[in-house]
Amino acid sequence: MSLTPVNFIWHNGNWIPWQDAQVHVLSHALHYGTSVFEGIRAYETPLGVAIFRLDDHIKRLFESAHIYGFDVQVDHQEIMDACKDAVTKNDLKSAYIRPIIFYGYGGMGLLPPADAKAEVYVAAFPWGAYLGADSLKQGVDAGVSSWRRPAPGTIPTSAKAGGHYLSSRLIASEAKRLGYHEGIALDAAGYLSEGPGENLFLVRDNVLYTPSPAHALLPGLTRDTLMTLARQASFEVREQSIPREFLYLADELFFTGTAAEVVPIRSIDGKRVGSGEPGPVTRQLQDLFFGLFNGRTVDQWGWMDYVTHNSEVS
Ligand SMILES: Cc1ncc(COP(=O)(O)O)c(C=O)c1O
Repeated sequence: MSLTPVNFIWHNGNWIPWQDAQVHVLSHALHYGTSVFEGIRAYETPLGVAIFRLDDHIKRLFESAHIYGFDVQVDHQEIMDACKDAVTKNDLKSAYIRPIIFYGYGGMGLLPPADAKAEVYVAAFPWGAYLGADSLKQGVDAGVSSWRRPAPGTIPTSAKAGGHYLSSRLIASEAKRLGYHEGIALDAAGYLSEGPGENLFLVRDNVLYTPSPAHALLPGLTRDTLMTLARQASFEVREQSIPREFLYLADELFFTGTAAEVVPIRSIDGKRVGSGEPGPVTRQLQDLFFGLFNGRTVDQWGWMDYVTHNSEVS
């Protein structure tokens, strides 16, 4: 999906024009993947424009930076404020927000110089459905990738870091080459892990299953949201090790992620999932999820962070 430029990007406390947000070709992150980032969505709701789980995303951003020992000079609240202002300053009604912390120009060794400080940028821009406009309604075709997720003790998948996305790229590009919309990766031991940018859920006999964080995945905030909504709707939800063949025995499958949102999977490795149509549990959970943004699901968790308030609503 191509980018639609907007007016301003936030850099280390200052607003700069979109086209001036550039880095040197010898930037550390470009060579070694030394960046951590977040993907966050803002939605237009009946009450105003709201950023979904902003506080939790920024918490994960700092956790990713902590895992890699980045020296970040900007605090949690400043980045939260920059995310909100990136939406309002660019007059966006809905947006994808991308805060990123990385090592820039100033040293070519694998470890940045001792006095190097990480750079912080926050951009916001319009972005549609990540897996295609029809994906949410009709579902997608997925295939198990020949590429595995990193083994334990190699790459820490709980961090959302730039370098990790080379693994995602291999999974996504193989899936595309084979004619699937998306790939599903196994972990090093052969258990189900996740998609290249999405977590995975299976439904069997009205019970929800999702791989536990020990299976080389990023514990997604949409995953957590879906588990919370499902439990509240009286579904049993199990986080566990899941063998590959459970994919073929599931009544329903779906992906979750900030970019993808909640996407039904209608076929896996060329085999139909259930009836081949998005199933009733997936539909119900999609309704609860999107209900947070159209006002039909009450936000009792404080997930919606409003950046504008509609005047006609009291
Ligand atoms: C590898 C990977 N897994 C899962 C997810 C889903 O996480 P979230 O729901 O927090 O967006 C993402 C997206 O950030 C991702 O990149």
